[in-house]
Amino acid sequence: MKADSRIYTLVLKIGGGAMLDGGPIIEGRVISRERLCELVDACVTVQSYVDRLLIVVGGPGAHLFIGVARERGASEAECDELGVSVSEMASKLIVFALRRHLVELYPRAVQSLEEAEVALCTHRVVVVGPLQNGTTSSDSVAAFVAEHFRADALFIVKRWGLADRVPTTETPGSVLKSVKLKQLMSIVSELPERAGNRPILDFNCLRIVQRSHFRSFIVDFEEFRRSAGCLIGPADIRGVEIVNDLASVWSLADSQKNAVLWKAKRLMSELSDPFHDWRHVERCMCQGETLAKIYRYSDAEVVFLATALHDVERIHGEQDHEARGAEWAQNYLKQLGFQEALCTKVAGAIELHRWTMMPCGLEGKIVRDADKLDALSLDRWMTWDRLSSSGNALDFGVIEKIAGIARRLECLLSLQRSLSICATWKAELLKATSSFQSRELAHYGLIASSITNI
Ligand SMILES: [Fe+2]
Ligand SMILES: [Fe+2]
Repeated sequence: MKADSRIYTLVLKIGGGAMLDGGPIIEGRVISRERLCELVDACVTVQSYVDRLLIVVGGPGAHLFIGVARERGASEAECDELGVSVSEMASKLIVFALRRHLVELYPRAVQSLEEAEVALCTHRVVVVGPLQNGTTSSDSVAAFVAEHFRADALFIVKRWGLADRVPTTETPGSVLKSVKLKQLMSIVSELPERAGNRPILDFNCLRIVQRSHFRSFIVDFEEFRRSAGCLIGPADIRGVEIVNDLASVWSLADSQKNAVLWKAKRLMSELSDPFHDWRHVERCMCQGETLAKIYRYSDAEVVFLATALHDVERIHGEQDHEARGAEWAQNYLKQLGFQEALCTKVAGAIELHRWTMMPCGLEGKIVRDADKLDALSLDRWMTWDRLSSSGNALDFGVIEKIAGIARRLECLLSLQRSLSICATWKAELLKATSSFQSRELAHYGLIASSITNI
């Protein structure tokens, strides 16, 4: 089950109620040690399927503090501030509980998006403290973080499911249910809101879900605790998906795909570059498809189009072919009648595929990783060896450059799964070099397959 399914960036919102044992606050039984241990175990399981995990925590028992404060005459704004203080304590508590189990956890709860960005440069798992000033809930903070970091998915873990509060639709053959975002927004907008007691989900959270493109799921705490791994793995998520009515969904017809392939192949054939021929594109497409399947919330159609077209502008020169290719692809796909949003996404995935650049979106990272991994492709090295042994002069200046990139590939790749593919391919290339006819090529093969410590 663990095999080949990952999320690149996941935001996990844990409702404060998940830490409570239900005991009355005045008896000091707010935080349950048992619940906390269960949460830690579930977070440790989830992070093993995720490249980057951001955890946002609600305030356990905040409504109890707020209830007492309200009785003593505190204003709603003051009650909200109190709720934020409880969330802050809870986020620190989660860090203390998690850091003994997770070496990849940033060792403090970050206080700003800027700090979270820095933390993610060195650590895969980051707990985000309350960023809000009291006017928004931790649900909307989680959605805001998901939007900022272009998360593939947002999981909101609650002690209660949505199913008993809003009408949900069963998905045939799946345990996942769904609710339409518009319907949820209309229900939420009718419900009263008070500090510490927001109806179902904060309206701000829903607004962010509406304008963004990440997938959003409400997961019941019991499901999260029992089967955290199933949330990410191929088994369906047991929860409710909030279906964004405004999100673009496309499935391309075979004829559309064939038209793009034919065009890309024809353009690449105009290029007399043995290092960037149609086979290079085919291998990138194949590797892109593999990565898109693994990163389950990536857009496979975008990856298909972007890998097919990523190098076509090489026909007008290597310099800036990425930016020119992005512009060309956007216009070309538009002419073919593809949706504007799809054309923009494909262009974005092509624009920064150079090894010195870093695309923001997941599809761009997939295209770039697939392209860079090709420096280690055994098919490529074997072809060069065959060409060399049949008397063709190889440009060893270019091969030296490619070998140099391959040697440092561990530092250049974006996705965790690409790193394991890189390790396997280096081992295969190393083995193959002993059978190379060309001694010079074997020398560069050894350089390419050497391992960089990161
Ligand atoms: Fe390129
Ligand atoms: Fe390429």
